[in-house]
Amino acid sequence: MRKRGTFASGFGTVAAVGGSVIGLGNIWRFPYIAGENGGAAFILVYVLVSLLLSVPLMLSEFSIGRHSRRNAMRAFRKVAPGRPAWQGVGLLGIATALLILGFYSVIAGWALEFLREAAAGSFRAQTPAGLKENFDTFVDSGWRPVLWTLLFVAMNGVIVSRGIQKGIEKFNKVVTPLMFLILLGMAVNSFTLGGLREAVDFVFRPDFSKISGAVVMQAVGQSFFSMSLGMGIMITYGSYLRPGDSMFRVAGTVAVSDVCIAILSGLAIFPAVFTFGISPTSGPELVFLTLPNIFAQMTGGYLIGILFFFLLFAAAITSSVSLTEVVVAYVSEEFRLSRRKASLLTVLAVGVLATLCALSQMSGSPLTVAGKDLFDLFDSLTSTYMMPVGGLLIVIFAGWVMKKELLRREITSDGRYGTGIYPFVRALIRFFVPAVIALLFLTQLGLLK
Ligand code: PHE
Repeated sequence: MRKRGTFASGFGTVAAVGGSVIGLGNIWRFPYIAGENGGAAFILVYVLVSLLLSVPLMLSEFSIGRHSRRNAMRAFRKVAPGRPAWQGVGLLGIATALLILGFYSVIAGWALEFLREAAAGSFRAQTPAGLKENFDTFVDSGWRPVLWTLLFVAMNGVIVSRGIQKGIEKFNKVVTPLMFLILLGMAVNSFTLGGLREAVDFVFRPDFSKISGAVVMQAVGQSFFSMSLGMGIMITYGSYLRPGDSMFRVAGTVAVSDVCIAILSGLAIFPAVFTFGISPTSGPELVFLTLPNIFAQMTGGYLIGILFFFLLFAAAITSSVSLTEVVVAYVSEEFRLSRRKASLLTVLAVGVLATLCALSQMSGSPLTVAGKDLFDLFDSLTSTYMMPVGGLLIVIFAGWVMKKELLRREITSDGRYGTGIYPFVRALIRFFVPAVIALLFLTQLGLLK
């Protein structure tokens, strides 16, 4: 068997897992969802969901990965040799990773273009209408987004091809803390802005009447996406954990960081939005239309704009590297290719998918399926169907198929950590988490209200 690497240090492990977890979900989605759905009440629900559902699911993925020390597909076979059908769950995860890479890389490409524009000072003296036209022309040109996207995909390939320690870990050790610093700097700067109070009010003011079943389900979906669960990432990264490392420490640290960074992002972005009397938005609209408008007007907006788009790019690449690694680990182990060759093949495949997604965003593009352009299709297919199903099958596998003793040995690192809380965690994995994900799935399909 070929030698297989692990992460080299505890800090590197947390940085890599944290880099995957902290992404666009934290920056452009969470603050808005929280604001719309009950503020601090939503945040409380989100924290509970993270601890009771996401952390157990993450521990399950880590266990399958670390025990098998294989890629996301082979891991299932290694853990349960007599039940080859479970490999399908791994394959589903790998397919999910590929599709997410398709549209995620396009957004990252947009971030690169906007980083360039911010640096060139092109937002200055632009009206909101001018900014919108600028963005639409960019997307409609077709070739410009494609070039940026391909550049981004290639960067992923370079990082991943250098290996676990010299590529992924080394890169995340620098970039993950940098993201945190930029956000912190922006949040501190927000304290000088007049819109701070309104922003704090929007993000935090608790309104428990807003919490409904649907809102809880939204928190679950957001938390799984934000913690990179249900698609084999944590199986793959788990296979690089060292035997003595505490899984509780890694999962706990990143779960706490996930929430903190999302809140920090709200404090970094919304005060400026309110200062200029603009209503809060989320997603592409927030970062590619609303914010450039604000950067054009605010003091220090030139520098803040550059930092922000760099942050967006950093958040995207540390996440997409983890997605890329899921595919590369699979290709290199299953087809017995060197890491470099496997990375090249993966980059080519992702490059094709991402190009199609980018082109599907041009107005009048024929790249649609059932009325949805490819970009939206990949997005909704993965988040509505593939991730919940993947997550559900993974906890069922960990709780009911994996040998009881194996799961205990992995999660407690051979009885070293968390043995007291372990029975509770196991009960969550066996009963609570599958029940809630099944509910989430049925709700999303519209079979439950
Ligand atoms: N967790 C990342 C975020 O919050 C997104 C992501 C999802 C990354 C799935 C990888 C896989 O944006």
